[in-house]
Amino acid sequence: MKFSWRKMKYPIIASAPMADISDSIYGELNRCFGADVIFREMVSSEAIIRGNVKAIEKCKISAEERPVVLQVFGHNPKIIAKAALIIKERFSPDGIDINMGCPMKKIVANGAGAALMRNKRLAIKIIQETKKIIKETPLSVKMRLGWKTASGLVDFAKAVEKSGADLITIHGRTKTRGYADAVDFLPIAEAVKNIRIPILANGDVFTAEKAKEVLKITKAAGVMIGRGALGNPWIFEQTKELLRKGIIKPRPGEKNKIEMLIKHAEFFKQKYGQISIVRFRKHIGFYLKGFEGARELRIKCLSAEIFTELYKILS
Ligand SMILES: Cc1cc2nc3c(=O)[nH]c(=O)nc-3n(C[C@H](O)[C@H](O)[C@H](O)COP(=O)(O)O)c2cc1C
Repeated sequence: MKFSWRKMKYPIIASAPMADISDSIYGELNRCFGADVIFREMVSSEAIIRGNVKAIEKCKISAEERPVVLQVFGHNPKIIAKAALIIKERFSPDGIDINMGCPMKKIVANGAGAALMRNKRLAIKIIQETKKIIKETPLSVKMRLGWKTASGLVDFAKAVEKSGADLITIHGRTKTRGYADAVDFLPIAEAVKNIRIPILANGDVFTAEKAKEVLKITKAAGVMIGRGALGNPWIFEQTKELLRKGIIKPRPGEKNKIEMLIKHAEFFKQKYGQISIVRFRKHIGFYLKGFEGARELRIKCLSAEIFTELYKILS
């Protein structure tokens, strides 16, 4: 059956796109733990149409992680649309997402990411061109509350909907606030009231209880979880158990976390080879967070140059 946002069981619990983190392995793990849909890290639309091998590699999807949404960033409607078509034809993602929320200097300086929230006409053109070319493939947009304030959010979201998007994810912070301050979910609730396509609420969901609270405040179709799932894929099953059965599942202990860390590392080794231990290092700290003696253990782990050495330290 073809994937469709409307046909999904609500509330949707989504795994967030995170550059250099949300690869295919991360997607598989999170699906195993109950994430309903996986958003993969952003790829440059220009790199895709240039045939850049690294960018193309990033779009590969394994059957186990579906449904998967591939995300592109850029500022040129024709290039984004063309990249989306290449991705659609080569990888058949279940959906394509356009990044309109990234606050990074090098992205917004080129008029991409969150800069598109300041250029509604261009954002509309990008969505229209992309939808025209990818046709029935679901198209979504990920954004923030706005550039400096949330005052234009509803208007922008309405324009996104009208241009042909099938779903919107909103991170409840403005571009200028980066990750500072608490997330403001009220503007998301306002957007939910004013548009018909489903909205995923995003930002600072670090526990199942928080996911429940966010859904209550926003009445969104679902939540998207990013940093809360780092070293903690259990958050997906905990959230689902709480939402569907009212059960609070016990948090994983240190032993479970070490086992999962080793499993994750082993998947990495099998997929990317021994050399990938350097790239895997960033995951180690996430799993060890909160452990007694975490700092020393992390330093030891970071010194491992091959995976078996890492496993030895951990066991
Ligand atoms: C390391 C990192 C990389 C990210 N990369 C992306 C990305 O590629 N595309 C995107 O739309 N958002 C990206 N984000 C933003 C997250 O998807 C999410 O919107 C944000 O972290 C807030 O959600 P959270 O509090 O659940 O993490 C990234 C965030 C982090 C921390």
